[in-house]
Amino acid sequence: MSATGLLDELAGIGRNPTSGGYDRLAWTGVDAECRQWFEQCAEALGLEVEVDRNGNLWAWWNESAPGSVLLLGSHLDSVPSGGAFDGPLGIASAFAAIGDLQRDGFVPSRPVAVVAFADEEGARFGVACAGSRLMTGALAPSTALALTDASGVTMAEAMRAAGLRPETLGPDEARLRRIGEFIELHVEQGHLPGEGHQLGLADAPLGLATEIWPHGRWRVDIRGSQNHAGTTPLADRDDPMIGLARLILSVRERAELAGVLATVGKVRVHPGAVNAVPGLASAWIDARGADESRVREVIAGIGVDAVEESWTASTPFDTVLTAALAATIGHPVPLLPSGAGHDAGVLALAGVPTAMVLVRNPSGISHAPEEYAEPDDCDRGVEALVAILRARAS
Ligand code: GLV
Ligand code: MN
Ligand code: MN
Repeated sequence: MSATGLLDELAGIGRNPTSGGYDRLAWTGVDAECRQWFEQCAEALGLEVEVDRNGNLWAWWNESAPGSVLLLGSHLDSVPSGGAFDGPLGIASAFAAIGDLQRDGFVPSRPVAVVAFADEEGARFGVACAGSRLMTGALAPSTALALTDASGVTMAEAMRAAGLRPETLGPDEARLRRIGEFIELHVEQGHLPGEGHQLGLADAPLGLATEIWPHGRWRVDIRGSQNHAGTTPLADRDDPMIGLARLILSVRERAELAGVLATVGKVRVHPGAVNAVPGLASAWIDARGADESRVREVIAGIGVDAVEESWTASTPFDTVLTAALAATIGHPVPLLPSGAGHDAGVLALAGVPTAMVLVRNPSGISHAPEEYAEPDDCDRGVEALVAILRARAS
């Protein structure tokens, strides 16, 4: 089946009827349904399914073959009201490519696996790429398990409710060292500003990523005094919302000055009542850019304490592997930096030769219901994976 045909099977899972986007947060019932879809796709292709110690899903093709593992895949979870392609396209394309090769009688000479890394977006517990970071040791199990969602549910509780055993979490050195290369196919996300032009795939269905920009997430807690909205004179208020408003404007101004991207996309106000002056406002800042020092400048310049919840250094992808993929794909593939984070970056930082194939997104919109890739372009992505598997696993 085509990648878009496989994505159609997922189309009803986690769809937000109001926005038309997807709510597929990690370790929810919806996430479990997506994981069932993964298992069904794998079983239809005769691939062995395995859940690793960190809850990542693996589908194995010829696992007992000699040699290192050629790993494809991406993730299934989404941001709230996210798009249909960010994550699932990489998995559906890998399954579609394997199906095409099987129909041609191709048998890989080395183990091939499709992975669905758990909790890539970090939309529920705040830390992105939790499944891959746990595997590489970049995230300590004790830290991960203690993270809480908006309702106070810990990751440990959520994983247990999803049928996993949180006590097994931890680095998976042997598995990591088996991976010869990881190739994550992903929908293009945004058209970043380049030197006098926008970087994007306007004229080409596929691209390759050169690097992931350094990026981080910070939390700022602004405390005030909770009081009655109808009886507290303005002059007597200690209202954290005023500080929050200033913070948001300051983040924007600092980002413009530093020439980087910074976003306040999540705030939490306590108690969150229309008729109470709040006692606490928390805001989360996401900042990214080509240059680490400029990203850090934004956070240093806002003038309030910010707790760093995650940081990922600039992550170059493997130039030799990327050049080899460009040659294998055989038609011009623009090279683009990625402003978005990915499990591919986590594996690259852990020393796995890693590359990313990007599939054109006409508007560049992502993390939103409008995220899109044309079926023809998705087919080009599958053809690229077929060529890559033939070239690297014959
Ligand atoms: C993940 O998509 C991220 O870049 O936040
Ligand atoms: Mn994403
Ligand atoms: Mn993604």
